[in-house]
Amino acid sequence: MKLLKKLSEACGIPGREDAIRKIVSSELKGKVTSMKTDPMGNIIAFKRGSGKGTRKRVMLAGHMDEIGFVVQSIDDKGFIRIHPLGGFDPKTLITKRVMVHGTKSIVGVIGSKPPHIMKPEERGKVPEISQLFVDVGLPGKKVRKTVSVGDQVTLDVAFSPVGDYVTGKAMDDRIGVYIMIEVMKKLRGHKVDVYGVGTVQEEVGIRGAMTSTFDVAPDIGIALDVTLACDIPGANSDPITKLGEGCAIKILDSASISNPKLVKKFVQIAKKNKIKHQMEILPRGGTDAGAMQRGHGAAAAITISIPCRYVHSVVEMISMKDVQAAVNLIVKFIQTAHEGSYEL
Ligand code: CO
Ligand code: ZN
Repeated sequence: MKLLKKLSEACGIPGREDAIRKIVSSELKGKVTSMKTDPMGNIIAFKRGSGKGTRKRVMLAGHMDEIGFVVQSIDDKGFIRIHPLGGFDPKTLITKRVMVHGTKSIVGVIGSKPPHIMKPEERGKVPEISQLFVDVGLPGKKVRKTVSVGDQVTLDVAFSPVGDYVTGKAMDDRIGVYIMIEVMKKLRGHKVDVYGVGTVQEEVGIRGAMTSTFDVAPDIGIALDVTLACDIPGANSDPITKLGEGCAIKILDSASISNPKLVKKFVQIAKKNKIKHQMEILPRGGTDAGAMQRGHGAAAAITISIPCRYVHSVVEMISMKDVQAAVNLIVKFIQTAHEGSYEL
């Protein structure tokens, strides 16, 4: 869990994934055949298979970026306006603590008018993100010394256990990065070639997975990401998935329809090895599978998801049991995959 805490608390908005890439690189150093970073920032760790001849290529993709902001402007009083990267619900942002990453990282808060001075029509109304501002407690002159337009701003919260679960920021998708790292470390005696990829810029439209797919040219692509767990009061919808009920084998979302033969194969392996799993149909949302399926020669793609409550907030909550199930399932899949073991 130490590694997950480190990943969750590290900061990296789309296009600024450096801190997460560093963690991936130091975790996998010496444990894979080779590792490289492409110009866009995707990190690709390669573990060679023992199969003879042309080996199948399996790509695992977990996105390193988290939703966040860049500094749009700084006014003379020092208040910072921000531009979002990724899908925020503005309700979840007001009065949150943030880190502004200039020449050094400084603490700020997303300010809001106190209720005492709100007009009746303002109460209950949610501001737009363009109206939000960050207060770093310094005058404009001082702010400009450390902060520039374009610097990243991330939400700031500590990772922590909560009851049977864990909670923190950026579980979307540091949990996918974590699973990728764990799988790469665990793999032994596999016949296929495996590429563990920490992708960039997923939250702004699955961009890094697209380019890394052209590079890796996978036969099989497995995206690792969170999915909605709406097993909460008042959700008024299908729960999609439930926390603690196992990793989710995705049937479809709005960016990809999982390869049906892969879905079947994963269900078989889960059943045979008594790995707790659930089936997932997500009406809105997508993962790196969408890029792997459409890039290069079109890989057979699937997503193995981790159920997550409160997705795209700073209290994203998951069950480590579901995470363990995902790791076990993917390791089993790769270790039993060999030429002719499945037709896709
Ligand atoms: Co997301
Ligand atoms: Zn994600």
